[in-house]
Amino acid sequence: MRVHVADHPLITHKLTVLRDRTTPSATFRALTEELVTLLAYEATRNVRVNEVTIETPVTTTTGVALSEPRPLVVPILRAGLGMLEGMVKLVPTAEVGFLGMVRNEETLQPTTYAERLPDDLSDRQCFVLDPMLATGGSLSAAIDFLFDRGAVDVTAICLLAAPEGVEMLEKRTEGRDVTLVLGALDERLNENGYIVPGLGDAGDRLYGLV
Ligand code: PRP
Ligand code: URA
Repeated sequence: MRVHVADHPLITHKLTVLRDRTTPSATFRALTEELVTLLAYEATRNVRVNEVTIETPVTTTTGVALSEPRPLVVPILRAGLGMLEGMVKLVPTAEVGFLGMVRNEETLQPTTYAERLPDDLSDRQCFVLDPMLATGGSLSAAIDFLFDRGAVDVTAICLLAAPEGVEMLEKRTEGRDVTLVLGALDERLNENGYIVPGLGDAGDRLYGLV
């Protein structure tokens, strides 16, 4: 697994505001979107393209177009939904599929409660969106799901991760083409499975308590 941790003052600044407990939901949502667009720039570095020939007003030249099949973007509901707009802003032709997952806050085990993805992901490049990589249970289950459907490579974009989750993902994805793009790698998980220093419950901060 390749891991890329962003190293840019604008990203650190936006994450600092996101972490602040007094930041209201509307600002939190706007910043999440902006951060994803910045991280998506790195995450799409190896997006597949093919050469095309075009006419400029002056001459004929070559450039690139995104290859078929189009990339598939998969936000993990609920919190990953807050990252979708920021991603499709950068890759507007991407297809979007959905996975709904929730972690049991006692056992920290994820369950999948919704799935809307193409049956066949053969030869697809997939981009998974989830702001928080804590124990790694949710993201590794999501990545297994995509490879089981035939995906060839998966890039996950997370705003924050705990080292424990990155390690778990490394083990669970061994031998597979997986890239992890992070806004920041935090210190640790606490006894409740929350990322420290973290930003709290991303879903609640985006959408409120349910
Ligand atoms: C959060 C987060 C991840 C998961 C991370 O979702 O968005 O999906 O927890 O934890 P893990 O790495 O230990 O699996 P949550 O289950 O709270 O659901 P939500 O998005 O509906 O709030
Ligand atoms: N899910 C969250 O939303 N936040 C954490 O810190 C861990 C899991």
